[in-house]
Amino acid sequence: MTIDFSDRETITSEAIQQLNEELSGKSPREILKFAIKHFDNIAISFSGAEDVTLIELAHRLTDTLNVFSLDTGRLHPQTYRFIEKVRQHYHLDIEVMTPNQEKLEAFVKKKGLYSFFEDGHKECCGIRKVEPLKRKLATLDAWVTGQRKDQSPSTRSSVPVIEIDEGNSNDARRLIKFNPLANWTSKEVWDYMRMSEVPYNELHEQGFISIGCEPCTRPVLPNQHEREGRWWWEEETQKECGLHITQTH
Ligand code: ADX
Ligand code: SF4
Repeated sequence: MTIDFSDRETITSEAIQQLNEELSGKSPREILKFAIKHFDNIAISFSGAEDVTLIELAHRLTDTLNVFSLDTGRLHPQTYRFIEKVRQHYHLDIEVMTPNQEKLEAFVKKKGLYSFFEDGHKECCGIRKVEPLKRKLATLDAWVTGQRKDQSPSTRSSVPVIEIDEGNSNDARRLIKFNPLANWTSKEVWDYMRMSEVPYNELHEQGFISIGCEPCTRPVLPNQHEREGRWWWEEETQKECGLHITQTH
């Protein structure tokens, strides 16, 4: 099965699964190289945490790096400072996406600034993260995330290195999603970051591992899983905000 990424008909689930098996044995650098070689209209989705690793790896492969961040309006000051630091360090034009103003204002007017503690994070994440992400993805042919299997035994244990983003594909187009770090452990990411002297979010010095929005993230204790610091008042299986809905696996 040969895939021609410019021909939608050849991008089948079976072909992508086969390609995933081939790419799974490769390093994050090789996976990124493959992604960049096959797609011009591709961007890295950067959360302002350890996924800066992707930017470092890709920066060494290309001069035309597209990076975007979803500014929920609720990130830590340290994360905003870090996004700015990365922008300057790599001389990047990071595209900062903001939520739809009308939807956000109506939501906050009706439910206040902390409704997620009462009725779950889905609605707030939907407005502050998912809608802006979908708007951005509608302009791309492929995107790259820092998702890893070891980030969550409950929800990420089968993250592939390449997949069809079914939730953002339609009859006219298939959106491809790359997760080059899928098979790396947290230790491998941090070994690489230290070795490459990559800038990092200063929250990591305060016990934060997985970093999201300020009200919904807290540091973890020794030997607590990193995901326990996210939406800690909710069930393990609910700890996804809708950015990464996968229907092919
Ligand atoms: S989340 O879904 O729980 O918020 P997580 O923080 O684990 O995601 O990050 C996984 C990947 O999702 C990141 O490496 C990044 O690619 C993408 N991502 C998460 N949050 C953002 C954000 N605010 N802006 C851009 N990308 C993000
Ligand atoms: Fe809202 Fe929390 Fe989701 Fe951020 S993580 S968008 S503050 S519910």
